[in-house]
This record gives sequence, C-alpha cells and structure tokens, in this order.
Amino acid sequence: MPKAWIQDRKREYYYKKAKAENYRSRATYKLSQTAMKYRFIRRGDVVVDLGAAPGSWIQAARKIVGKTGFVLGVDLKPIEPFSHEYVRTIIADFTEPEALQQILDFLPRKADVVLSDASPNISGVWEVDNARQIDLAAQALELTLSLLRPSGNFFVKVFEGNMLAGFVRTVKKHFEVVNVIKPKASRAKSSEMYLLAMDLKTDSLAEEQS
Ligand SMILES: C[S@@+](CC[C@H](N)C(=O)[O-])C[C@H]1O[C@@H](n2cnc3c(N)ncnc32)[C@H](O)[C@@H]1O
Repeated sequence: MPKAWIQDRKREYYYKKAKAENYRSRATYKLSQTAMKYRFIRRGDVVVDLGAAPGSWIQAARKIVGKTGFVLGVDLKPIEPFSHEYVRTIIADFTEPEALQQILDFLPRKADVVLSDASPNISGVWEVDNARQIDLAAQALELTLSLLRPSGNFFVKVFEGNMLAGFVRTVKKHFEVVNVIKPKASRAKSSEMYLLAMDLKTDSLAEEQS
C-alpha cells in the first residue's frame, strides 16, 4: 500500500476524530497520547502551554488537571476563550523578555509542566525551518527554567535534523530524563518530533535564577 495513502488516511482519521470529540485540532492527540504513556501531567497540576492556539492542547491538559489544576495558554494570536475558571489564555510573544512576568502574573504558583507546540513561520527551505524550530524550542526552554518548579516537566516540539542532538544535550543538562518522541498522531513523513524532559534538576533552576 503506498505510504502517502496511509499517511492521508491517518491524517483524515485524526481530523475526523477531533471533530467528533469536539477538539479544536487533531494536534490534541499528540499531547494526549504522550501524556497517557508517560504520565507527565497529573490531576491538580499547573500547566503553561507556549504557542497554544487554537487550543487543542489546552483542552487535553484541562481534562487531565481537572478543576484543582490550572492551564494557561500563551500565543501570538488570540485563542477563543474557555468557560472554565481554571483555564486562561493570553496574547504574548514568549520570546520577548516581558513574557516571563506576564505569565507569572497569571499563575497560582510555579508551573508543574510547561508545554510548547510553537512553530515558526515556515519558509519552505528545510535548513532555515529546522534552525528556526530549534531556536524557538531553545527560547521555550529558557523561559521554562524560570517558570517550572524543581522536578517539573517540559514537552516541546522540535524538528529532526543536525541541530537536534545539540539541543537534546542542552536539555539533558537541566532535566534528569529526556526522551525524543514521535507520537502516533504525528505524520511519519513530517520531521516534527517532540522532546519530553522530566524532573527538572534543582541546581539547574538555581543557576538560572541567580
Ligand atoms: C501548531 S500551532 C499550536 C497548536 C496547539 N498545540 C493546539 O493543539 O491547538 C503553533 C502556534 O505557535 C504560535 N507561536 C509561534 N511563535 C510564537 C511565539 N514566539 N509566541 C507565542 N506563540 C507563538 C503560533 O502563533 C501558532 O498558533
């Protein structure tokens, strides 16, 4: 069976599933499949989602944390508001220095988990897009080190390519466990991957804050 045909079917399957289950995008399954397998988001957690529009990861995270938790979505674009009191969204560029305070002002306490599915504008030139994606992931990491509590978790989109190994090495300096993941819901032909970093090292946090 041709690979492209299988890929189209898979894409169509998650698209229809998201529609039927009232999710804002099929991307929701990339988070929920990983969260189910690795249990890195728990009931009652405070979660920050960087690059969150239209909000399907917020929907998945909200279901896991429940009303004893809190989810904050951040995006350059407005996100259609949620009616739940423990879900908030803001318009911000998380690469700007003022984003840290903007986000902290909304949080009830330091975050247990930071997510980032942020994508840069795609140029179509593979090397450029790869570098931009890793750069955005690196900026998400930098902010995460100021947002997370010790032992917190970080889940971020990256692209497969020659810059990935260097980024993984950097993340490993700060987290005890780092896995590179390709969720089933992510198209096999796309170079999109996710990095799941668990258990933020306490010394790493102190370093960043001093
Ligand atoms: C693939 S979408 C996220 C989809 C989301 N996970 C969902 O499930 O609905 C990527 C988002 O990253 C956002 N983004 C890219 N750079 C950003 C930045 N510097 N600050 C905030 N958001 C950013 C884009 O505006 C876009 O909405």
